[in-house]
Amino acid sequence: MKVLVATEKPFAAAAVEGIRKETEAAGNELVLLEKYTEKSQLLAAVADVDAIIIRSDKIDAEVLAAAKNLKIVVRAGAGYDNVDLAAATQHGVVVENTPGQNANAVAELVFGLLVSAVRGFYNGKAGTELLGKKLGILAFGNVGRNVARIAKGFGMDVYAYDAYCPADVIEAAGVKAVACQDALFEQCDVVSLHIPATPETKQSIGYDLVGKMQQGGVLVNTARKEVIDESGLLRLMSERPDLRFVTDIKPDADADFQALEGRYFSTPKKMGAQTAEANINAGLAAAKQITAFFNDGCTKFQVNK
Ligand code: 3PG
Repeated sequence: MKVLVATEKPFAAAAVEGIRKETEAAGNELVLLEKYTEKSQLLAAVADVDAIIIRSDKIDAEVLAAAKNLKIVVRAGAGYDNVDLAAATQHGVVVENTPGQNANAVAELVFGLLVSAVRGFYNGKAGTELLGKKLGILAFGNVGRNVARIAKGFGMDVYAYDAYCPADVIEAAGVKAVACQDALFEQCDVVSLHIPATPETKQSIGYDLVGKMQQGGVLVNTARKEVIDESGLLRLMSERPDLRFVTDIKPDADADFQALEGRYFSTPKKMGAQTAEANINAGLAAAKQITAFFNDGCTKFQVNK
């Protein structure tokens, strides 16, 4: 079998090495397409492969149609909104993710962004501390749980809301469960987003919701660009000079947010999962899932059932 690693944003070398070892030990061949810039390169690379490992790379209907031998796509990471699941199912292709494998890396970046925001992006003026502040975690999945763990080390008062996770599960993790999304924004000094991009969540974080935040509130986005209603948030931030927004996913309206001097920061490229450890964890998990699929028909992490 031929396994393609197609990563516009490449894994660390050690992760690629691990994927190669796992793939070759299983008797399969590994091919690499890294740092590609054109979709045509991806279309050419998928032509004769049986499996693909990707990150945020887009696998749409055209790519699936071009991949005549394809049987499985593994998204080395959590979110799979970059894969056309319906088209994959139509082509008989199994789609999997590797949940949890890069969660700590993303959670650590939340605090990198947050400390820099509350210290005024190191402008030399007196900032504020995280100790004793209320942190709201929106969605209590793998990343949200890691954020809660780290927040306790900072001495923060931790709250969470998750439409799909019962309150008692949140409370069992030593986190205060709130009844709804609105309450999370109303009660907290900082809200960190960990929701996937779905039809329900797209553009759901905007003027009304963020406007409920306390004075001096900070919004942290390490989830997806699409969940933000950019024009609503911009309007709110122009009316509320106390609010700050830090993000690991550059908004389309980046230039407009940049104009809110001293209250906004975006990483130049999504960096949350970009650590050697997360690359090794997620990349190797993806390679092992492909081995298990070809050897035993295992589809434990399938997301297009
Ligand atoms: C994920 O969904 O796992 C994260 O957003 C990481 O995405 P990346 O692999 O493109 O960095």
